[in-house]
Amino acid sequence: MPIAAVDLLYRALYGGILSRLPEPTAIALGQAGLRLLPLDRLGALRWRDPRLAVTLGGIRLANPLILSSMYYDVTILRRAMGLGFGAVTTKSITRAPRPGHPEPNLVRRWSADGPGLVNCNGFKNPGLDAYRAALSGLPHRAPLIVALAGESIDDYVTLVEGLAPFGDLVEVNISSPNTALVYEWSRKPAELRALFRRVRAATVKALVVKLSPDFADANEDAIIPAALDAGVTIVNYGNTRRIADSRLSQGAGGLSGPELFPATLENLRRTRAKFGESLEIIATGGVDSPDKALALIRAGAVACAYFTGFVTRGPGLARVILERLSRELDRIGGASLDALRRNRDQV
Ligand SMILES: Cc1cc2nc3c(=O)[nH]c(=O)nc-3n(C[C@H](O)[C@H](O)[C@H](O)COP(=O)(O)O)c2cc1C
Repeated sequence: MPIAAVDLLYRALYGGILSRLPEPTAIALGQAGLRLLPLDRLGALRWRDPRLAVTLGGIRLANPLILSSMYYDVTILRRAMGLGFGAVTTKSITRAPRPGHPEPNLVRRWSADGPGLVNCNGFKNPGLDAYRAALSGLPHRAPLIVALAGESIDDYVTLVEGLAPFGDLVEVNISSPNTALVYEWSRKPAELRALFRRVRAATVKALVVKLSPDFADANEDAIIPAALDAGVTIVNYGNTRRIADSRLSQGAGGLSGPELFPATLENLRRTRAKFGESLEIIATGGVDSPDKALALIRAGAVACAYFTGFVTRGPGLARVILERLSRELDRIGGASLDALRRNRDQV
């Protein structure tokens, strides 16, 4: 089936059915579909072009698209690895299992820019020990980024030591707005110095720090410099944005989707200008079209990640974006994505 048909079909499915169902039902259906349907065997969803390969923390990704942190189910992660992404991220795993916050913990939010989500998921996950067992059976058809979140420095060290052997890169989440303790890390730059030193010493794998879009000053004045000092040279900018939403059980949650995109681009541009090539940046937040991904690559992102776009635009989005990147390289005669970055002022 050609990709345009897959894309149209999903738009009809999302617009006509999924987006009209209560969010928990739609999510349950979507996840069941991902688990049951062998979408990863559909060649139409993948796009190969060696010019799109990038290196992140020394790891080669076949392309710069990353499935952002949300799923912990390894069947879904295994399928996602065959859906055209350059890398796939796990949910942030905590030391002990967590039931997550009670429902409603995920609602839709419509804006002029398109459909987004607000969640107060609260890190529902099986905990470190159970997850180590689950990951041990997951083949890496694409690189795996293992993500984790702690409440103390010791938590983070234990999680990094426990999960790093199962991942190609390790993402340290200090920015989810749904549990006060994790979110508060972005307000404690001094303690973060110690945190970064300790996690850096805990693994030889490439480390990524996931930042909040809510704390640009702290991120750029204190947190990124502290990460670089400790030898942590990749940031994922960023997580969801905390907003009040009375529909959620916690009265507030993390906004994701297209409303984030202007901040994602702005944060990337500023950070790239301040830190230059010393920092590798994964740009995340609101990517749901080829134009947006292209804008982020041009602005200097090594990779860009998305989750909400996967839900609202479907599994065909990766290929649609990648084909567009290839066409841009054809147009300028570029041999790699670096050519798009060099040409950013001419387009
Ligand atoms: C339901 C849900 C759960 C999420 N869980 C996590 C998580 O466990 N860890 C994390 O770092 N980010 C988590 N995120 C944030 C996404 O990974 C991503 O950073 C954010 O949604 C912005 O990207 P997007 O606009 O493409 O969705 C979650 C997002 C959603 C919507």
